[in-house]
Amino acid sequence: MTTQEELNATIHEMVQPGRGILAADESHPTIAKRFNAVGVESSEEKRREYRSLLLKTQGLGDYVSGVILFEETLGQKSDDGRLLSSVAASQGVVPGIKVDKGKGPMVNAPGDEITEGLDGLANRLEQYKELGARFAKWRNVYHITDINPSQAAIEANAEVLARYAAICQSCGVVPIVEPEVLIDGSHTIERSANVNEAVISEVFRALRRHRVELETMILKPSMVTPGNATGQKASPEEVAAHTLRVFRRVVPAAVPGINFLSGGQTPEEATLNLNAMNSGTSLPWVLSFSYGRALQEPAQQAWAGISSNRDSAQDALLKRAKLNSLATLGRYSADMEG
Ligand code: 13P
Repeated sequence: MTTQEELNATIHEMVQPGRGILAADESHPTIAKRFNAVGVESSEEKRREYRSLLLKTQGLGDYVSGVILFEETLGQKSDDGRLLSSVAASQGVVPGIKVDKGKGPMVNAPGDEITEGLDGLANRLEQYKELGARFAKWRNVYHITDINPSQAAIEANAEVLARYAAICQSCGVVPIVEPEVLIDGSHTIERSANVNEAVISEVFRALRRHRVELETMILKPSMVTPGNATGQKASPEEVAAHTLRVFRRVVPAAVPGINFLSGGQTPEEATLNLNAMNSGTSLPWVLSFSYGRALQEPAQQAWAGISSNRDSAQDALLKRAKLNSLATLGRYSADMEG
């Protein structure tokens, strides 16, 4: 296959109404935090056991078209000796890999952060492809305060995301471009909308500058919500109206799929909000999910590190995957939770 054929085939498999992406690419500190919340100590073996459990969930591929793995997981095998990426692929779930090296403070931009990992990326991608990865994810974060994000941060982060995406496509790897505007803070929903609009429009300016092919990338944004320190929750209809207004303004129709992160929403909120966005008029993109916490939290609680809880953990994952699948079609309602 040519590089272009690889990109076309992967995007075709990943972006389909009724299916979304499972984000299971937590870094070591993040997975340790998630495990700690359910009383599990994080070790390489526990991470392997848990992520094998997720990927072996029967029927996962009906609702999930792709899974984002952490580098460690790409090299791990299930009990039957298969690579975990092969386990995913055998379920019809395309394996992908988080390739950024994490974030840190941006020099001369107090309160802003920038993501690292571009050096040597093309070489790393070739190795990841040999282990089965067909798409990649890179996350940049933006804090909202009265002065953040600065224009310098908006521009620098956009440039990094676009360079990452261009390198991925040159290697035949579909890039998930993730500009996460954080939910943390006491900002209004209007302020979140303004920041998301400024951030995403700058990202697309940079993608064009770097000649990224919009048809073979996926955008992974935040939903537009009030800050989590306000103590206020917007209704799903308000979240949908603000979020879609921003995207209609700044996301070209050439982009096939927008897969939201959950970003600290509860599992039910994330599903309700996604459903509301898919309940109105027709949209130029497939609007779906790429949730980490909102898909995995109930499964982690059911598992609690105990091998014999495997079936109930898988049931919990499959339930959230199915409900979010319905939400991509606008066919979810809260009474399906019970
Ligand atoms: P959450 O859905 O838990 O925000 O995680 C998604 C993700 O991949 C963040 O990079």
